[in-house]
Amino acid sequence: ALVSLRQLLDHAAENGYGLPAFNVNNLEQIHAIMQAADECNSPVIMQGSAGARKYAGEPFLRHLIEAAVEAYPHIPIVMHQDHGASPAVCVNAIRSGFSSVMMDGSLEEDAKTPSSYEYNVDVTARVVAMAHAVGVSVEGELGCLGSLESGMGEAEDGHGAEGVLSHDQLLTDPEQAADFVKKTNVDALAIAIGTSHGAYKFTRKPTGDILAIERIKEIHKRIPNTHLVMHGSSSVPQEWLEIIREYGGEMKETYGVPVEEIQEGIKNGVRKVNIDTDIRLAMTGAIRRHLAKNKSEFDPRKYLKDATAAAKEICKARFEAFGSAGQA
Ligand code: G3H
Ligand code: 13P
Ligand code: NA
Ligand code: ZN
Repeated sequence: ALVSLRQLLDHAAENGYGLPAFNVNNLEQIHAIMQAADECNSPVIMQGSAGARKYAGEPFLRHLIEAAVEAYPHIPIVMHQDHGASPAVCVNAIRSGFSSVMMDGSLEEDAKTPSSYEYNVDVTARVVAMAHAVGVSVEGELGCLGSLESGMGEAEDGHGAEGVLSHDQLLTDPEQAADFVKKTNVDALAIAIGTSHGAYKFTRKPTGDILAIERIKEIHKRIPNTHLVMHGSSSVPQEWLEIIREYGGEMKETYGVPVEEIQEGIKNGVRKVNIDTDIRLAMTGAIRRHLAKNKSEFDPRKYLKDATAAAKEICKARFEAFGSAGQA
């Protein structure tokens, strides 16, 4: 059944688990997520970005997720709009039936001018007022997260996660988070705690200090009823990078967020964990391998079946690691 993000994350908080929120663009990704959720009895968050709407077309994206709701009536599913760039984008999603929207007013906010914080508060509060009137949840964002545009692990300020601004300046400020929640009444808040979007997050192998755990604790202490969201949470599995390279792909050395660190985040208040890149890597590796090994194959169902199976394994592993398995 379709549920709101608030309903699902309240349950997650009461029971001390976290949920992966998978980005979806096509049938195979939705199949993979639902097959995994069905096998391990996990609730599901599927989210569509602006890029997903551009790729699939809004009606296709929406009906594919609605098909999942129909095909798996026993699984709670959140249909969430990822990174809404304006109140108008969020209103359209609410009208078309999404049960949750993200109003990302932080892109403007990264200029770090006082007015841009006011802008973020203003647009987010307006979306919350409209959404809550019809039972839809809202995620806001505060802080300087890794880039959506470049997909190269650069922070939204363009300087890179290890660039000009100091580590501390890039993280979400706990006092400001408390003020933001008071003024907007968001259900969930995406915070900058050391992650960035895309495959190229870290150039060196992480040694257990990727996430700013102390910062997560401080924020959670101040806004205990607001569910914390971690974007840029792909783990960038080295096995899949190797398979991509082995079968002709080119991927530079890169590392993601270790699953153990995400688990530590979940222990400290993180409830929604956004994952897109890991599914992309698994599907690409599986398709490259399939086509290299089956040179006369030309039925898309054959290599897409492998891609679906690879994505499904990633999803299952995350449902189990984050504790949502068994909670549907
Ligand atoms: O938040 C970013 C997601 O990875 C979506 O990426 O804009 O390429 O669909 P996209
Ligand atoms: P990844 O690029 O780490 O998968 O993050 C996706 C994301 O945060 C979508 O909003
Ligand atoms: Na989101
Ligand atoms: Zn994101």
